[in-house]
Amino acid sequence: MMPRTVIRGGLVITAAEETHADVLIEDEKIVALAASDSECARGWSADRIIDATGKYVIPGGVDPHTHMEMPFGGTFAADTFETGTRAAAWGGTTTIVDFAIQTKGHALREGLDAWHLKAGGNCAIDYGFHMILSDVDQGSLKEMDLLVEEGVTSFKLFMAYPGVFYSDDGQILRAMQRGAHNGGLIMMHAENGIAIDVLVEQALAEGRTDPRYHGEVRKALLESEATHRAIQLARVAGAPLYVVHVSAEEAVAELTQARDKGLPVFGETCPQYLFLSTDNLAEPDFEGAKYVCSTPLRPREHQAALWRGLRTNDLQVVSTDHCPFCFSGQKELGRGDFSKIPNGMPGVEHRMDLLHQAVVDGHISRRRWIEIACATPARMFGLYPKKGTIAPGADADVVIYDPGAEQTLSVETHHMNVDYSAYEGKQITGQVRTVLSRGTTVIDQREYTGRAGHGRYVPRATCQYLS
Ligand code: URP
Ligand code: ZN
Ligand code: ZN
Ligand code: ZN
Repeated sequence: MMPRTVIRGGLVITAAEETHADVLIEDEKIVALAASDSECARGWSADRIIDATGKYVIPGGVDPHTHMEMPFGGTFAADTFETGTRAAAWGGTTTIVDFAIQTKGHALREGLDAWHLKAGGNCAIDYGFHMILSDVDQGSLKEMDLLVEEGVTSFKLFMAYPGVFYSDDGQILRAMQRGAHNGGLIMMHAENGIAIDVLVEQALAEGRTDPRYHGEVRKALLESEATHRAIQLARVAGAPLYVVHVSAEEAVAELTQARDKGLPVFGETCPQYLFLSTDNLAEPDFEGAKYVCSTPLRPREHQAALWRGLRTNDLQVVSTDHCPFCFSGQKELGRGDFSKIPNGMPGVEHRMDLLHQAVVDGHISRRRWIEIACATPARMFGLYPKKGTIAPGADADVVIYDPGAEQTLSVETHHMNVDYSAYEGKQITGQVRTVLSRGTTVIDQREYTGRAGHGRYVPRATCQYLS
């Protein structure tokens, strides 16, 4: 039996409300909330009391887009499930949904089994899987039904990376039709990869090889064109659509237009698009490679549209797309040829803090912070209300957050297995103090007390954001 825990005196923040309440936890679940200092709360006996006076009590973060150990460009993302989920816990995230990958010519099942082997027994926090479809054919379409039944209820398709993950419009339409039928949500990497590859070839032929050209060839127009096409294909299929890592103002406009028509079209952005820009890609001495990811960072002017989209609910989720590659030995593979720089950035540890900074800066409200980082990702991917909220019956995934603490993000202090920070020197107001994962303390007053293998696989329901 785990101890009965009471979290006393904090400000409980969910997507729906903010209340001064005590939280009673038994075993792995939240069993009750009661107004702080109420007779009810005072009557609770507890083996352990966590004093949250002056702190926020928030649901553990749900990061629905990570790539631990992902193979890319001849190397692997540097965080294992062990190191990456530990870093997530440090940053107040208690659930990740990672991407299992179908290898071309092989079954979905083989990919999923391989990802279960990587993650099983290694995670500090709970985890689920999406499936990347690299080969949409009759076999994989049939397998989608089986995966949905066993809790893998979302499928990522790529309009980019011809010859690797790329699906053509016919394959996309078929997968969307299947999703409309079996409840699987299609997640789209919306960039016109065929056109981008032409521009890559031309840039390299002209000697434009530095990291900043990664941003120049992956044009905003080629993101918005693909976003538009994906939306139209989803309409034809009668399927909902979730567009991942939206970075361009023009792509947000496509989502806004679709949503204004009442279409079930959703969008996610990531902290790197909200806080970083092409200025970073242009850093000298190949340092720009640290910021190579796709979709790419955009000129700073795009950020206002992303913040606006998050406020107006034209964008619903902030994930990290955590896919770290060390500068030394990995990003360096692309010296002299930006197209060989492994795509992806580290960030799983910093999402909750960066979005709290957005609250401090006045971009979003406190409740919206919890909505885009916890509640909506959980609902979008069939994890709610087990995850994403603080309510009786929910898993006791709870973060005690100090809104007044000051910290500086740095490679010297982060816990991700990568040799640089994309946010080196950034000042943040707010910091995670204590983290419970299903009632177990995994971060205790800024000490790691978790263990690899505590985290469990979570099968998911279908998207709950439509009902
Ligand atoms: O550059 C990125 N985003 N790498 C991870 C793979 C993807 O497309 O999400
Ligand atoms: Zn095979
Ligand atoms: Zn992608
Ligand atoms: Zn990704």
